[in-house]
Amino acid sequence: MLVLTIMETETEEGIRNACVVEYLRGWCRTSVMPEDTEEYVLKVESLKAFYTSKKGLVKAVNDISFGIRKGESVGLFGESGAGKTSVALAIMGIFDELSRYYASTSSEPDNKKLWEKRDEARKKGLASEDLGMELPGVEGRILFKGKDLLTLDDKEYRKIRGMEITYVPQGTIRSLNPYTQIGLQTAEALWSHDEDNLLIEREVLRKVLETLDLVEIGDSDLRQFMKPAEFSMGEDQRILLAMALISDPSLMITDEPTTAVDVGVQRRILDAIEIVRRELDLSLLLISNDQGLIAETSDRVAVMSAGRIMEFGTAERVLTSPGHPFTRAFIMSNPSMEMMRKIREKGLRLRGIPGKPPDLANPPSGCPFHPRCEFAEGICKTDIPEYREVEKDYWIFCHQFEELPDW
Ligand SMILES: Nc1ncnc2c1ncn2[C@@H]1O[C@H](COP(=O)(O)OP(=O)(O)OP(=O)(O)O)[C@@H](O)[C@H]1O
Ligand code: SF4
Ligand SMILES: [Mg+2]
Repeated sequence: MLVLTIMETETEEGIRNACVVEYLRGWCRTSVMPEDTEEYVLKVESLKAFYTSKKGLVKAVNDISFGIRKGESVGLFGESGAGKTSVALAIMGIFDELSRYYASTSSEPDNKKLWEKRDEARKKGLASEDLGMELPGVEGRILFKGKDLLTLDDKEYRKIRGMEITYVPQGTIRSLNPYTQIGLQTAEALWSHDEDNLLIEREVLRKVLETLDLVEIGDSDLRQFMKPAEFSMGEDQRILLAMALISDPSLMITDEPTTAVDVGVQRRILDAIEIVRRELDLSLLLISNDQGLIAETSDRVAVMSAGRIMEFGTAERVLTSPGHPFTRAFIMSNPSMEMMRKIREKGLRLRGIPGKPPDLANPPSGCPFHPRCEFAEGICKTDIPEYREVEKDYWIFCHQFEELPDW
């Protein structure tokens, strides 16, 4: 099934997204935070996710930690290639399988060997650190309702994936099956997890209509029989949201939900997300490089660059008084109207981030932002900063935080 879908797409991202959609649809036919379990739905600790590539290991997610509380919406915000989607794939438990697939199709025998080493290490319960070498795949802890997802076997993971944790992948606007009625597609997550045949058709139909109504697909009783071609792009995206919501998940991850749609459509999608937040006791991880979307939908924001979380705090703190040089530069490169006003008031110079994002197969030494940072000092080039809580609930990955000028 995976291979058939790949033939329909051309770009690497297209392939990956098609894989993700197929994976979630079919294969997932198939519930963990540390001590303060009650408060957090998800807690990610020291998470790493490395791909194999011709150039070596791509450190897409490099030792990140953050949490999402019950009913909270956390925005994962950052530049393209920062590793945001890779975080989602790791949480969904499909990062290894997808990156392993690329390794199996590449002609790099070393990469295949690295994956074999990873398998051996897992069997022995060892991490890459124990072996003194870096390995591909996911490592760390992903605690969902107190249980570490990385310790679950496939069967246990499948019970959570697509049911308790759902995912609307990036660039999926044309990913609905064009030949299947949207009502049937919306119901898929329920049927595919009904291993014991407990579901009643009438109840599923009721749930489908209720969920389509929730995301404002009007006349759902009639339109459930229509196929995707009869819906607009924005409605497609909302149907994908419905597919991710029908199982009443505890956590929904949406990856760039408004990319490539016009402003009006964006508005409807944002409204749907807002309604979902209000009506359901749901935690959200919203992935985007769109400052407006993040500001509007997130309670807290984690800013990502080069596989690291640079700054993590309340949306107010991070987006209006960012403490990290990367966040400041990133916001300045595409400021909101409100930020423009602030920049003018403060007499700051509006400019983008100089240079290019780092190559994650060969990241810079020390702080990965140092080649582009106007505040870089000697230590920034040699030592990796500690990700530390500098105020209650406010985390920073920067040597010089205390010395930086106010913003
Ligand atoms: N299959 C793969 N093999 C090797 N490297 C990959 C693969 N998929 C992604 N990468 C690399 O991993 C890094 C992180 O990619 P990822 O897609 O997670 O970033 P992102 O923050 O989601 O970017 P965007 O905002 O463009 O979606 C990038 O450097 C990317 O080139
Ligand atoms: S650690 Fe140094 S290089 Fe990195 S963001 Fe802070 S000041 Fe800049
Ligand atoms: Mg992405």
